[in-house]
Amino acid sequence: MTIEDLTTDEQLAHLSVDQLRELVGLVDYDSSLDPFPVSGWDGIVWIVGNATQTAHYFQSAFGMELEAYCGPETGNRDHKAFVMRSGAARFVVKGAVDPNSELVARHAMHGDGISDISLAVPDVDRCIRRAVAQGAVVLEPPHNSTDEHGTVRLAAIAAYGDVRHTLVDRSNYSGPYLPGYVSRSSSHARREGAPHRLFQAIDHVVGNVELGRMDEWVDFYKRVMGFTNMAEFIGDDIATDYSALMSKVVANGNHRVKFPLNEPAIGKRKSQIDEYLDFYRGPGVQHIALACSDIIGSVDALRREGIEFLETPDAYYSDAELRARIGRVRVPIDELQSRGILVDRDEDGYLLQIFCRPLTDRPTVFFELIERHGSLGFGVGNFKALFEAIEREQERRGNF
Ligand SMILES: [Fe+2]
Repeated sequence: MTIEDLTTDEQLAHLSVDQLRELVGLVDYDSSLDPFPVSGWDGIVWIVGNATQTAHYFQSAFGMELEAYCGPETGNRDHKAFVMRSGAARFVVKGAVDPNSELVARHAMHGDGISDISLAVPDVDRCIRRAVAQGAVVLEPPHNSTDEHGTVRLAAIAAYGDVRHTLVDRSNYSGPYLPGYVSRSSSHARREGAPHRLFQAIDHVVGNVELGRMDEWVDFYKRVMGFTNMAEFIGDDIATDYSALMSKVVANGNHRVKFPLNEPAIGKRKSQIDEYLDFYRGPGVQHIALACSDIIGSVDALRREGIEFLETPDAYYSDAELRARIGRVRVPIDELQSRGILVDRDEDGYLLQIFCRPLTDRPTVFFELIERHGSLGFGVGNFKALFEAIEREQERRGNF
């Protein structure tokens, strides 16, 4: 694999192949036989109640950089949209300006959340041919969008809930995002001593779906989009004494795009997935895992900005079995303990991870920070500790 195999976003972010192997578990793969080749993420599109303020929050707290904008001043009288970047990761945050915008009804239903997991593809038409042949719902047939910076080829297909995958080929485009958007920067300045970047890329995006529908969506990603099974978590692995869920992970050929899909399982109490489905009013994106190269520095910087994380009890770190299993990691355990960072190890290596509290008023979407060192897993060894932490929070919210 060479530098040419990196996406434009990764090259712009000055990331190297070796770094991406480590950061997101990038693997070699031959796309020529793939009926639906996906090169990576294009962007995560959010619909929120106040894009102006959410854009500020992603910059001021999460260290993202504003790079493009559209809104009334650029001829879009329906909504404002802010495009932000951290490393190879792009977020687009949209909020209604016109009270009759269709974003208003959508936001009333779901609250702040993710409407579109856009994917970079080298051949939009080929992907849509495959999608049609496999009976997927095509929301937008392939079309060009052009301005003075060139042409983008776009199409969109439906995924779980109201989530869509816009397919984007921007190989003939040099603008800041899409036609209709203009370059924009902001006067926000990083705090002195803050890391240059708090995250480098998107590692995985998790979807919560209804009871009994996980396999249907796993099948969708495999059959329509040529994804393969990467992992599955069923049974005692991911049950506490009170609640349970099931999870399967599918990934695209090069493993840049990884989609864990969760469904609730029957337990004594209400599962965290049920709580999500109730408050989001249906299936949707539960969390986005952000790949960090220095999770310690990122957590410290985020805490300084007031970001709250799930708490990990001290018993987690004193557990002899855990200590024996995780072995040596790059920092002393007490450095992890003082920040509540979790560790997991498998046959390939280890990972460090931590989970933020929900980002929105509803107990729905949240971020995970993940620092991989060889491990291609998802922290299964931490699921129980994580779920117990979530249950403590569910109980405080009166939803357990
Ligand atoms: Fe995760």
